Amino acid sequence: MTTTEARTTFSTVYDRTPAVVASAPGRVNLVGGHTDYNEGLVLPIAVDLRIAVAAAPREDGRFRLRSTDFAGEVVVDGLPDEPLHGEDRSWANYSLGVLGELDGGLARLDGGLDLLVAGDVPRGAGLSSSAALEVATAAAAYGVGGEAGNDLDSAREELPRRELAEAGWRAETGFVGLDCGIMDQYASALCRAGEALFLDCRSRETEAVPFDGESAYRVVVVDTRVEHELAESAYNDRVAECRDATERFDRLVGGVDSLRDVDRDAFVAHADDLPGTLRRRVRHVVTENERVRTSVEALRDGDFDAVGARMYESHASLRDDYEVSCRELDAVVDIARGTEGVVGARMTGGGFGGSVVALVSSHAVDDFRARVDRGYPDRVDVDAEPRTFVCTSADGVRLDRSA
Ligand code: GLA
Repeated sequence: MTTTEARTTFSTVYDRTPAVVASAPGRVNLVGGHTDYNEGLVLPIAVDLRIAVAAAPREDGRFRLRSTDFAGEVVVDGLPDEPLHGEDRSWANYSLGVLGELDGGLARLDGGLDLLVAGDVPRGAGLSSSAALEVATAAAAYGVGGEAGNDLDSAREELPRRELAEAGWRAETGFVGLDCGIMDQYASALCRAGEALFLDCRSRETEAVPFDGESAYRVVVVDTRVEHELAESAYNDRVAECRDATERFDRLVGGVDSLRDVDRDAFVAHADDLPGTLRRRVRHVVTENERVRTSVEALRDGDFDAVGARMYESHASLRDDYEVSCRELDAVVDIARGTEGVVGARMTGGGFGGSVVALVSSHAVDDFRARVDRGYPDRVDVDAEPRTFVCTSADGVRLDRSA
């Protein structure tokens, strides 16, 4: 759908046929919140909401970018070293940053590109639309670079998924300038339908964990449509606090390069040496990594109730210890807890708004949605109604030669 829209819109606006169309999904993270930049463990699945990027090469060194979500065209002669400013242009930075990362490496892009973005991953919902855009752009550029030199059919079969994810992450942290971890780009590139991705953010090792209860359970995403002002600065604050705690632990016990190196025993032994706020931040990271491990075991056993219990615990920890939740997210999780058949729920993404991911018995999906619709306005002031997506797990990035 998204792919078709990207292809046809490309043809209409540029009056030519795209050479490739790539698409990459958004993600939800079942467990493992704010562990990725601590070199910890995460367990995301890709959802069936995608961003598609249609592309064709040029020969004059110019890059033209359009999106079905934004008016106008962004045009640059050569890839910029600095991000573009202005609301009508800044959306293009995710793509421009990735093109800069690929150029001269995974792809030759010196001739320029025409690029068209379409998709249905909601922005600002914590479903990582930016990573989907980065990874889809990376695959499209790789496909076009492949057209010039390599064999596109083999590119389709053997997309260098990790390299595309890394390029997306470098674009986000280096070019766009958000100090995030690697989870979103890896999930968008490497996830597969019917599986959750167990990712070790230190070693970058991945393991597919069957997520095959989808006849009995559904992943329901409730987007609060709230985006609090402090989301980005608070995220950066947490990253800084974790660095501070890492240095303190390193002085205390040695050999600590990130909070990943702090296990429960070390934490318990030295908890009192930390100021209260840092103590709670570290406790979240330590217990959250444990929750990912136990959730992986539970998923392997098909024990969705146990996974759900870890999700509720994760939310409580993010709310109380890590302090990245907000009233709107808490309200949805409370409603989830009070609904028979919702086995687990937690905030997903950076926090301070965005979405809740819930694991819901199939028979309870309608009831949960109805309770959110009824109960949410009683608990919070509603500027915008929350929207619900009933998702299935999906494949990571795909590349298609254009028909
Ligand atoms: C955002 C970031 C991710 C991750 C999550 C929290 O989505 O982009 O890297 O840190 O927040 O788990």
